[in-house]
Amino acid sequence: MRRPRAVTLPTPHPRRALAVGSVLALAAGPVALAPAPTPTPTATTPAADRGTQLYLEQCASCHGPQGQGSQRGPSLIGVGPASVDFQLSTGRMPLSQEVPQATRRAPVFSADDISALVGHVASFGGGGPQIPRVAPGDVVSGRALFAANCAPCHGAGGSGAVLTNGWIAPPLYESTATQVAEAVRVGPGLMPAFPSQVLTDRQVNDLTSYVQRLRSERLDRGGNPIGRLGPLAEGLVGWVVVLALLVGAVRWLGRRAGE
Ligand code: HEC
Ligand code: HEC
Repeated sequence: MRRPRAVTLPTPHPRRALAVGSVLALAAGPVALAPAPTPTPTATTPAADRGTQLYLEQCASCHGPQGQGSQRGPSLIGVGPASVDFQLSTGRMPLSQEVPQATRRAPVFSADDISALVGHVASFGGGGPQIPRVAPGDVVSGRALFAANCAPCHGAGGSGAVLTNGWIAPPLYESTATQVAEAVRVGPGLMPAFPSQVLTDRQVNDLTSYVQRLRSERLDRGGNPIGRLGPLAEGLVGWVVVLALLVGAVRWLGRRAGE
C-alpha cells in the first residue's frame, strides 16, 4: 500500500477544538466509559422505545440524556440524521476508547437499530442535514469535483493522507455511496461540510459515483498479484520481459552468424 502523503492544512476546522477538548476530557475522566443508568422508556412506538433504550444505554453517558452534550462528548442537538447515520454506519460511534480520532470499524448496531437511534436523536430537535438519497451521477464531472474539493486531503486516488496534528483523512475505499454523501453534507471531524449552496445534489451524485469508481478500480487491481505490487513493479516486470526478448534475439542472431 502507498503511504499517505502529508498535507498541511491552511485553515483548521473550528470543530476540531471541540473534538480535541472532548477527547482530553475522556482521557481525564476515569469513569468516562461507565454505563448509563438503566433507562425507563417513555416513548410510545416499539421503534421509538428501542431508540430511547439504546440511546440511554450506549450514548447518554457521553452525549447527555437529552443530547445536550457533556465533557465527554459534543451536543447532538441539530447535528441531523445524516451525521448520526454516518457515525453509526461507519462504526465510529459508540466511541469505546480514548482515541484522538474516531476510526472506521464494523458497525456495532443493525440497520434497524441505527434507524431507531437516528429517530431518537432527531427527537432532541434542531433539524440538521437529512440522510442524502444518492443516485448514479456523471463520473467525469465527479472526477473534476473530487480533484478540486477532496483530493487535497484524501489524495488524488482516494488513498487518504496525514493532516496536521496527527489527524488522518481516511482512505475512501470502504465508504458506501450514502456514507460519501453524508460525509460531504456533514463534515465529520476535521473535514469541512459542503452544503447545497456549495455542491448541489447532482454534484454530490457525480462525486459519489466517482468515489465508487475509485473503489472498484482499486478492487480490480487487488485481484491481480502484479497489480498489488503497484506500477513500479509492473514496470520492472515489463523491463524483464523486454530484456529476455532482447537476450533471446541476440542469441538467435549470434547462432545465425556462427552457422
Ligand atoms: C465514550 C464517549 C462517547 C460515546 C459512548 C458515544 N459518543 Fe458520540 N461522540 C463522542 C465524541 C468525543 C465525539 C466527537 C468525536 C469526533 O469529532 O471525532 C462524538 C461525536 C458524535 C457524533 C458527531 C457529532 C457532530 O457534531 O456531527 C454523533 C452523531 C455521535 N457522536 C453519536 C453518538 C451516538 C448515537 C452514540 C451512541 C450509540 C454515541 N455517539 C456514543 C463521544 C461518545
Ligand atoms: C480538510 C480536509 C478534508 C477535505 C477537503 C475533505 N475531507 Fe473527507 N475527511 C477528512 C477527515 C479528517 C475525515 C475523517 C473524519 C472523522 O473520522 O471524524 C474525512 C472523512 C471522510 C469520509 C469517511 C470515510 C470513512 O472512513 O468512512 C468520506 C467518505 C469523505 N471524507 C469524503 C470526502 C469527499 C467526497 C470530499 C470532497 C467533497 C472530502 N471528503 C473532503 C478530511 C477532509
